[in-house]
Amino acid sequence: MKRTLKLMLLLGLALLLAACAMPAIPTPDSAEPEAPAPTAAAGGMGMGMGRRMGMGMGMMERHSAAIPAPYADLASPIPASAEVLEEGAEIYTAQCAVCHGDGGMGDGPTAAVLDPAPAPIAHTSQMMSDAYLFWRVSEGGVPFETAMPVWKELLSEEERWSVIHYVRGLGSGQVIPRRGMGGAAFDPQVEAAQQREMLDQAVAQSVITQAEADTFAAVHDALDAYRAANPTAFGAGNPEEQQAALLAALVAAGSITQAQADAFLDIHQRLHEAGLM
Ligand code: HEC
Repeated sequence: MKRTLKLMLLLGLALLLAACAMPAIPTPDSAEPEAPAPTAAAGGMGMGMGRRMGMGMGMMERHSAAIPAPYADLASPIPASAEVLEEGAEIYTAQCAVCHGDGGMGDGPTAAVLDPAPAPIAHTSQMMSDAYLFWRVSEGGVPFETAMPVWKELLSEEERWSVIHYVRGLGSGQVIPRRGMGGAAFDPQVEAAQQREMLDQAVAQSVITQAEADTFAAVHDALDAYRAANPTAFGAGNPEEQQAALLAALVAAGSITQAQADAFLDIHQRLHEAGLM
């Protein structure tokens, strides 16, 4: 009952915020250069993809923002047990799915009217640290003027960690999305297809060579595999430090060479500068 009430409040809030997000005054996000919109024929992945690629730079900026104290060095104090995931599922379904969608792909009912759109958190939670996620859930979109609500007054710390575990589970396939608000389930194949398309675009625009696209994809795969096998490797620190640490671990493990790690960072930077990610 209490949750239903909160949900109603949130829906109202979302619509209000959506109305505020619409005026002609460009927000920092809408002022950014748009990435070329993929055509409907390109893989038939629908408009969710175009939106996500279009807002790539705003999301990138949020991802590389300095995490403020007291969040900077946090790591989850609770393990992702079955009970914790169950609690996370209830919170997620009641409070988050309306915007982020049942599967956490940023495609809930409010997604069509919010700008920036809700993040595809099933996906981004796989690469962002505990500290980043807990900060963003606790303090919401205030630092970035987005519609992401502030949860620190409404959810206890334990509830916030539970929902973060659930969101990570949506992206890793550990949990099955509950039906409620609609939206696609996280699909690694769709993500991979999107990445291939982005790399093809980068090669077509001469941002990178085909060989660099292959290197990028190979190192990216190695990073994903390493994260999947080492779910606790989400250390503290900013995303660049984390990525550097992960790449160093891959080099140490012999999965990639130092030259590939260096090339990956360089290609990443150029793709970012070209507005492709
Ligand atoms: C009113 C719509 C709305 C609701 C409800 C909502 N979010 Fe969000 N959320 C957003 C938007 C929009 C963004 C993207 C902008 C931003 O990052 O501030 C976002 C971003 C995020 C991010 C940052 C992701 C990233 O990759 O940077 C996390 C984590 C997140 N939401 C988790 C949650 C959780 C957990 C809940 C439920 C407890 C929730 N959100 C409820 C709209 C919402």
